[in-house]
Amino acid sequence: MIRVSSPHITDEDVEAVTRVLRSGMLAFGPVGEEFERELARYLGVRHAVAVSNGTAALYLSLKALGVGPGDEVLVPDFTFFATASTVLLAGATPVLVDVELETYTVDPSQLEEAFTDRTRAVVPVHLYGHPVDMEQVTKIAGERDAYVVEDSAQALGAEFRGRRVGGLGHAAAFSFYPTKTITTGEGGAVATDDERVADAVKLLRSHGQRQRYHHVELGWNLRMSDVQAALGLSQLRRIDRMLERRRALARIYLEELSTVSGLRLPVEKPWARHAYNLFTVWVEGEGARDRLALFLRERGIETAVHYPVPLHRQPALSGARRARGCCPNSEEASRHVLSLPLHPGLSESDVLEVSRCVKEFFKSRGSA
Ligand SMILES: Cc1ncc(COP(=O)(O)O)c(C=O)c1O
Repeated sequence: MIRVSSPHITDEDVEAVTRVLRSGMLAFGPVGEEFERELARYLGVRHAVAVSNGTAALYLSLKALGVGPGDEVLVPDFTFFATASTVLLAGATPVLVDVELETYTVDPSQLEEAFTDRTRAVVPVHLYGHPVDMEQVTKIAGERDAYVVEDSAQALGAEFRGRRVGGLGHAAAFSFYPTKTITTGEGGAVATDDERVADAVKLLRSHGQRQRYHHVELGWNLRMSDVQAALGLSQLRRIDRMLERRRALARIYLEELSTVSGLRLPVEKPWARHAYNLFTVWVEGEGARDRLALFLRERGIETAVHYPVPLHRQPALSGARRARGCCPNSEEASRHVLSLPLHPGLSESDVLEVSRCVKEFFKSRGSA
């Protein structure tokens, strides 16, 4: 089976984790702190705070910025659930905004229209690893005094106009789930240049304690362990190679599939460096996406749909509000997108084989 995503684990990763296991110091400590320093350096931000997962990173970013009851937060309708659920968990109201269909990221003009007096923050999502046009988003939010929290869960290593995402707003959330650019098993981080935000996240991730057993506010246990951080640190050391590998494999798909009619390929805007966390295509025709997925599965190729249900149709998000005009594009996207296998462990011949099967599907459809 050619997997759609898979973590890339080397002997060095195993040795790094083993060293921590043998040390007997497993909870967050010196390795976690080193991971935070190296991540901050890589991102070009002043602070990176490691937490238990990307969802915690989003939630704690909002809490640290003081987002809460009575506030509205603008989020795209087409994204992973946690982008909006964390807004509700923080006590605020997510306002769902439609996406544009070239990059599947939030539509800046619709974002602008969705502002009200209660809008406190915007959460642009660098979906699939393609950056949002952050110039437009920060300008729109800045004019209205709203915070920008980048949901960079899928985009570690992506760049907007030569700057890495994660340092372009007030705070950013990263995920180190096994399908992401680098993994810690489960894990996440908040990146920020604002010392107060970093400080608040550190406090909230660990029971609101400044000193051990001295609690100044209510918090949670959302810490990363040193076992996880050892894996993250080891992965971070070869992130450039892993990203380059993803990009090289994506280029093969783009070449191989460029002439297939009925398929729209991912774009990379001139100002963007795509991290290709996912290689997601648009399959034209009613029901064709699901037929292609089945066709590939029968040939030992796994695919996935990111995402089959837009946020405005998620029962758990009934507390969210739809912005005006939301969300025909998101609806359409949920019916047509399909992620093809892409991860650093794939070989060129795997990608050629997937491409061959995709072309075969469209050829048989054309002659049918
Ligand atoms: C866009 C987006 N936001 C947030 C998250 C949440 O991250 P985690 O799964 O680490 O909690 C994910 C993870 O898949 C994601 O893709």
